[in-house]
Amino acid sequence: MSDKVTNLNKDFYAEHMMDSTIYRQDVWPEERLMLQKYLTDTKGSVVEAGAGGGRLTFFIEQLGFENVTGFDIVPEMMEFAQKESDKRSSKAKFKTGDASNLTIFEDETFDYLVYIQQVLCFVPKELFHTSIEETYRVAKKGSTTLFTFLDYDSRIYNPILSRIINFLRKMRGEEASKYHLPWLKLNDTQFNWKLFAKNQPSVYWVRRNAILKELEQVGFSIVEVENGNKIHKDGNKGALYVVCKK
Ligand SMILES: C[S@@+](CC[C@H](N)C(=O)[O-])C[C@H]1O[C@@H](n2cnc3c(N)ncnc32)[C@H](O)[C@@H]1O
Repeated sequence: MSDKVTNLNKDFYAEHMMDSTIYRQDVWPEERLMLQKYLTDTKGSVVEAGAGGGRLTFFIEQLGFENVTGFDIVPEMMEFAQKESDKRSSKAKFKTGDASNLTIFEDETFDYLVYIQQVLCFVPKELFHTSIEETYRVAKKGSTTLFTFLDYDSRIYNPILSRIINFLRKMRGEEASKYHLPWLKLNDTQFNWKLFAKNQPSVYWVRRNAILKELEQVGFSIVEVENGNKIHKDGNKGALYVVCKK
């Protein structure tokens, strides 16, 4: 990551989201459906971005893939996942790496890229476009990438929250950003009381047309776009699945 940009979400994940991330086991029905639909050639190499405790990386291996790598910006998560891999006698590899600067991977390395669980929405806004370019760079020609993004229009209160947050940002002389909103919860359960405080980590809630345009600008072709609850009735409405080809 660029030295000039501070990634507040890296510390947020390490301090507040560690347990809820690494101990998750269940694979959601829409994740299962999408991974089984698009990861079809088990000889292909797969990367999972923002792999956390390895939940999805291990699931992909169970689908029959032998060349699977997970990376995450939080080193402690990768240590946990690697130990888990060793315990399971799994071949999955885990590396510490930042989605906005993938120096750990060569150009055109992967046949399948799994960027679900909204990992790019946690990248600082100045580095969002670069992160998509990085994804494209490490993808092989003909590869398939599964992204999910947080869908701004899926939460009816986002416009109100955005107005309040940006009013406070303006009063404090901070930069306003309509679609970058702070976390509402810590560890998926506790309310984040610092929500309205200064200089909080925030996540990017995308608009469908804007994100599709940005992916196409980088060179991706869009194959499928759907919210999680349309893929499976119990799916997550807030997760916008975008499947791309290079
Ligand atoms: C919602 S969690 C998903 C974890 C795991 N994929 C799963 O589904 O169980 C998002 C993950 O993205 C990671 N992350 C956030 N920003 C990142 C970045 N810039 N590069 C790589 N990983 C990042 C976090 O540390 C966290 O583990």
